[in-house]
Amino acid sequence: MTARLLDGKALAQSIRTRLKEEVARFVQQTSVQPGLAVILAGENPASQVYVRNKSKACVEAGMNSFQHVLPAAVTQEELFALVDRLNADPRVHGILVQLPVPPQINALAVQERVLPAKDVDGFHPLNVGYLSMGLEGLVPCTPLGVMEILKDAQVPILGQQAVIVGRSNIVGKPLAQLLLREHATVTLCHSRTRDLPAVCRSADILIAATGQKKMIRGSWVKPGAAVIDVGISFEEENGKIKQVGDVDTGEVMEVAGCLSPSPGGPGPMTIAMLLCNTLRAARRQVGG
Ligand code: GUN
Repeated sequence: MTARLLDGKALAQSIRTRLKEEVARFVQQTSVQPGLAVILAGENPASQVYVRNKSKACVEAGMNSFQHVLPAAVTQEELFALVDRLNADPRVHGILVQLPVPPQINALAVQERVLPAKDVDGFHPLNVGYLSMGLEGLVPCTPLGVMEILKDAQVPILGQQAVIVGRSNIVGKPLAQLLLREHATVTLCHSRTRDLPAVCRSADILIAATGQKKMIRGSWVKPGAAVIDVGISFEEENGKIKQVGDVDTGEVMEVAGCLSPSPGGPGPMTIAMLLCNTLRAARRQVGG
């Protein structure tokens, strides 16, 4: 059996096309253009690419993009001052502080400084709390993207066994809450989980978010399961740098019912969900 491919790139594109129309309608109704401010502190090359892509996507969707690039030596106080300014700026409806931040910066303190209503990353403890209570708030983008992929593919969630490998605050934990909200039975695994292959084999929905290259083998997957690979790592092959995920795609393709791979799966969805969150934040701040 070969798994059905769940193409995150194509889905992200169709969401972005629909969103562009929604943004145009919103602008027409309210005369307000949604705006996203992205803060990048330091010169992490991967972060520079991510931030550039986020800004470009914003403009393509008809939103305002405000980029703030700060030196690696920026102080906590300087960063706070910028966040305060953006919090008070009515043109800015969403604020994102690109991670990782330089070592002298306390990431949590900065996340807490962002107004919860403008926290399009969903990292503010208030939004994290809302999510865990099943209340309305802003939700992290990558987990939202995974849910959209599952829904678009009409993968049943209610009553299903969902296993997530990786307990990060950005992916694993919020995804567990979202799956729970849709009535899955959720198991959240990590590096100390006993007999991880056996736990993975119990999954109807298996989500890998560990950053460990190709760790999920074909023999870890229940035949017919839905597998989503959130991992983004890089390796060299024939002198070229190539993206790989947490899943051994070749092996898992032969066992799973459907697979959203890396690259080409959840990655492109993250930016689409960021745009959705920005429009949602704008709606809640402006009405319309
Ligand atoms: N760095 C890697 N992923 C993310 C993300 O989703 N949001 C932010 N702010 N930084 C990141």
